[in-house]
Amino acid sequence: VLTRSSEDVIRRYMEVVAEVPEEDCIICMDQLSSPSSYETPPSSEDGVQSVLPDTVGKFITCGHTLHMLCMLAMYNNGTKDGSLQCPSCKTIYGEKTGTQPKGKMEIYSIAQSLPGHPDCGTIQIIYSVPPGVQGPEHPNPGQLYTCRGFPRFCFLPDNDKGRKVLELLKVAWMRRLIFTVGTSSTTGEPDTVVWNGIHHKTEMMSNLSGHGYPDPNYLDNVLSELASQGVTEDCLKPP
Ligand code: APR
Ligand code: ZN
Ligand code: ZN
Repeated sequence: VLTRSSEDVIRRYMEVVAEVPEEDCIICMDQLSSPSSYETPPSSEDGVQSVLPDTVGKFITCGHTLHMLCMLAMYNNGTKDGSLQCPSCKTIYGEKTGTQPKGKMEIYSIAQSLPGHPDCGTIQIIYSVPPGVQGPEHPNPGQLYTCRGFPRFCFLPDNDKGRKVLELLKVAWMRRLIFTVGTSSTTGEPDTVVWNGIHHKTEMMSNLSGHGYPDPNYLDNVLSELASQGVTEDCLKPP
């Protein structure tokens, strides 16, 4: 695996701006024309000049500007997976990955139709995650995490759009974005495996919990939740 230094990641997706605009930095809220108050990292061994406090950077695609040093500090504070997200417009550069613990995603097909999707069968996803020890990417490294309500059974209509969602969920699973370790908002339990903002339908034949069928907006909603984590149809195209 090729690992990049944090500065390499910043420089890959941001270019240095020569004429500093009269705007504020969205991270530190100070003017771009005054220096970032984050500490400059020591310059690398090869003598390459590190990011300086007054260096202003511009994202290569969305064009938003901010202190490069502020962006570097934000990156170093996160999972450092080689991806960046513009704090202004949320555009993702590179491949965002999450902190989902080890587990299994299985897919089955069910002949029965879902309420609201009478013309097709059903895709069933079963997520199994066993308890384990938290890694450095988790809130309390070294401590155990629990797993409640596993295996979790989830349902999609077996039509074109449902199958597309399934393929994107597989990408999200590979990128460790489906679950995370944290505090459950339902039970209040800390250090447990929880959903990570990509909604799943866990009720097949009713909608008592709000996480069931029918729900005419579900597939569109989950597509936009996937997109906000950088998982889009582009990920399904061959490179
Ligand atoms: N099914 C699907 N999603 C749910 C459910 C549910 N029964 N309950 C809550 N969610 C959604 C919430 O809407 C929220 O967006 O999961 C997100 C995270 O909520 P938490 O309570 O922090 O998640 P977690 O503890 O993982 O799960 C709550 O979901 O699948 C069930 O068995 C699971 O009972 C547990 C519940
Ligand atoms: Zn700043
Ligand atoms: Zn942006």
